[in-house]
Amino acid sequence: MSPNRAYFKTPKLRSGADPLCETLSIGIFSIICCKTTIREPFDIGEDELYGHANCAIERPKIGPARKGGSLATLLEIDRLKTQFFTSAGVVKAVDGVSYTVDEGETVAVVGESGCGKSVTAMSILRLIPWPPGKITDGEIRFAGRDLLALSEEEMRNVRGKDISMIFQEPMTSLNPVLSIGMQLTETMLAHTDISEEDAYKRAVDLLGMVGISEPERRLAQYPHHLSGGMRQRVMIAMALSCEPKLIIADEPTTALDVTIQAQILELMKNLTRDLGVAMIIITHNLGVVARYADRVNVMYAGKIIESGTAADIYYRPHHPYTLALLKSVPRMDQQRQAQLDPVEGQPPDLTMLDEGCAFRPRCRFATEECAHSFPSLETFADGHATACFHMDRVAASMKEAS
Ligand SMILES: Nc1ncnc2c1ncn2[C@@H]1O[C@H](COP(=O)(O)OP(=O)(O)O)[C@@H](O)[C@H]1O
Ligand code: SF4
Ligand SMILES: [Mg+2]
Repeated sequence: MSPNRAYFKTPKLRSGADPLCETLSIGIFSIICCKTTIREPFDIGEDELYGHANCAIERPKIGPARKGGSLATLLEIDRLKTQFFTSAGVVKAVDGVSYTVDEGETVAVVGESGCGKSVTAMSILRLIPWPPGKITDGEIRFAGRDLLALSEEEMRNVRGKDISMIFQEPMTSLNPVLSIGMQLTETMLAHTDISEEDAYKRAVDLLGMVGISEPERRLAQYPHHLSGGMRQRVMIAMALSCEPKLIIADEPTTALDVTIQAQILELMKNLTRDLGVAMIIITHNLGVVARYADRVNVMYAGKIIESGTAADIYYRPHHPYTLALLKSVPRMDQQRQAQLDPVEGQPPDLTMLDEGCAFRPRCRFATEECAHSFPSLETFADGHATACFHMDRVAASMKEAS
């Protein structure tokens, strides 16, 4: 047996926290600051937001292709529809979604639970289970290839190699009976011509890159030996192992405790930026996207209802739902006893949508017109689009409040 195969052995269990998790300087305080400043556009200017002394927040990188740069479009989703044919009716989980991701760009998809964020991501990877689910319309092009036209074998090559995914709960994504080393090298051996020895060396490097100390020892361990934060670091290492062009991170920090969330997000931001990997980050947390995304797509009831740069979304929201989401984020400048302003009402049943705007029952700007047809996503400023008949009233109300 090669010495490198030692990572297949069962190691001794060791308790203790991830030392890196304890020493990284960016903690929960900066995340709270970020949420506060982005939540409170009335009190702080855009320049001040990104230069906030206590917050260490950086100005988000703006998608270069959108600003006259030369980077190409990597992923193009065009009028995608994914539906589930259930006994309760047809669930229109993704209903005409279109967006693009440029090379090296980070795009956030934000919205309440059940609005179709994960189904959109699973559609990109063609992982919708049939029955009951099916992509019924639209196109998905990745690096010039039509993903919906690929054979299952070609698609297997795309998954893991060109596009990798990081899920919410690393414990369910990692195999509990295989060592970390085995799982980390498996994808590399399956997708590339790398030798076992080189795959092992690369696995050591990858664990170092994601901030895991004593990588050789960790490779011999099993998922249950690691903390939640360390498991998510392993998932990031796995996602990077075949040098993908795109990583889809579906609520990557939701299952982690709040101080670890900031460290993992920071790590993902730095690695994807340094390696030039594009990322789709799916989240229900608007605080996350301010710091980590170039562009933001807000989803509601299977559709994108607003899209723009992070600054567009936080300072110039034109959709009542985006405005309501912003108001529901906690603020540091409020009294502790102050009530949050949650989005009133419930998201609609996706089997019961009518021809009107799906946000209508929860919308304080709604008029008769909103019941008769759904507003299309209209671009009204460079890269900023909204699907609302009364976007001007919404923007005016924002100005009045400031
Ligand atoms: N396998 C399935 N069968 C039926 N409905 C599903 C299935 N998977 C997802 N859905 C429905 O699709 C809608 C969108 O789900 P999802 O994309 O997971 O939401 P989220 O935005 O929280 O990620 C939800 O209404 C959900 O119930
Ligand atoms: S179209 Fe009408 S119901 Fe829909 S968000 Fe705009 S104002 Fe509200
Ligand atoms: Mg989801």
